[in-house]
Amino acid sequence: MSRTAITGVVPLAKGTLPVLGHGLLLARDPFGFLSSLPAYGDLVRIRLGPQDVIMTCAPELTRAMLLDDRTYDKGGPFYERAREASGDGLVTCPHRLHRRQRRLCQPAFQQVRFPAYTEAMVATATELVSSWRDGEVVDVNEAMVTLTMRAMVKAMFATQLSAELDRQVVDDLTIATGGIFRRMLTPPRLNRIPTPDNRRYNHAQARLRATVADAITSRRADLADHDGLLSVLLSAEDSEATDGPPALSDTEVAEQVLTFFLAGAETTANLLAWTLYELGRAPAVQERLHAQTVNALGGRRPSFGLLPALTAADQVTTEALRMYPPAWFLTRTATRDTRLGDVRLPAGTTLGYSAYLIHRRPDLYPDPDRFHPDRWEGRKPDRTAYIPFGAGARKCIGDRFAHIQATLSLAVMATGWQFVPVTDRTPRPAVHATLMPRGLQMRLLART
Ligand code: HEM
Repeated sequence: MSRTAITGVVPLAKGTLPVLGHGLLLARDPFGFLSSLPAYGDLVRIRLGPQDVIMTCAPELTRAMLLDDRTYDKGGPFYERAREASGDGLVTCPHRLHRRQRRLCQPAFQQVRFPAYTEAMVATATELVSSWRDGEVVDVNEAMVTLTMRAMVKAMFATQLSAELDRQVVDDLTIATGGIFRRMLTPPRLNRIPTPDNRRYNHAQARLRATVADAITSRRADLADHDGLLSVLLSAEDSEATDGPPALSDTEVAEQVLTFFLAGAETTANLLAWTLYELGRAPAVQERLHAQTVNALGGRRPSFGLLPALTAADQVTTEALRMYPPAWFLTRTATRDTRLGDVRLPAGTTLGYSAYLIHRRPDLYPDPDRFHPDRWEGRKPDRTAYIPFGAGARKCIGDRFAHIQATLSLAVMATGWQFVPVTDRTPRPAVHATLMPRGLQMRLLART
């Protein structure tokens, strides 16, 4: 980790193994392991392979770290692997490249863009539910990943891809997102061995890049007709640049496109999958969601304008983001000697934070393991205790996009369908960059 020692007491979490450290525990039982960490104190040390990671368990220290993005820059095992996948895009880029990129990407997330994005989201969700049959059992993860990736492709390109290309992009993205986390837990030299898994990962990455490069070339020639994310990025203007070339080069646009796909699709799918799981376990909540949504929509299609009326879907989404924050484990590197709480940290220290660990603290959320959307009745999430999208300058740029997509998709699904569990078993999370409920299947009942 670092050459100088950490000063102050940072206990090492129990259960470390030679070579793997806590990697195995984290992979086998991420929820149990993370929930156990606050008992050690405000900071605790874990080991991922050869690397020590200082986890922040106190919400105030987590926020302090996130707000000082110059001292605590993107780095550590998660970001090293993610950088291999999406280059120096907005999620992964270091502090020195960040402000310019954020300024150039921000127009894509302005209010005026949302009616078109939400149209794509609702159209995709409507297409999905119209393919369902009464009584059918679906693989929830697969359905939700396809839903969010398709919606993202639509919102990104503002055009229909051919069915074949659409399927190919969804497949490649699934392999690419799955690979990042697996690679984070294994030593880098193993990732270079041409195993079937590594070959599949490299192939998916290369094909994804080629698809995006093609889309950029054709869209540069025809900017006027589209208002998708891609066109907004291609026409971004740098008010601080003085001369002519595009503010984001084609390579930079390609990195941002991959970044948005990788950061936005599986995360939102993960949120929706756990939401459906919890709704299946709480039929009364599901019925209230259905009744409130039907009432609010009054026969209309969900839309951007109707969002304020969809209060039940909004609360269910907020609660699911608390219980199952999709970006569950993220890392930083200290760029200089510093102090966090009572502890001195030398430059080079790797730190980690987990929204999951904060959101399940019983001192912040009474009965934290209970799915209870009513806890948000008349209450706004607290910015220190509720961090599904991070905080500070590196906070998720797609937070509204994601929350709105989840709310609208849920509204479309809850209006016409009931979700029923097919087993009492609690699904184990599949450890990826996000934590999907492994093997979750549910029966769909059409509402008359
Ligand atoms: C439920 C869905 C989502 C969750 C839970 C989520 C969560 C997060 C979190 C926690 C961060 C901060 C990472 C850190 O502190 O290291 C982040 C950053 C980011 N997210 Fe999201 N995200 C979601 C959806 C999206 C979507 C839909 C997009 C794009 C359309 C997106 C694009 C980004 C980008 C570009 C960043 C980097 C921002 C920056 O550093 O300036 N995310 N996200």
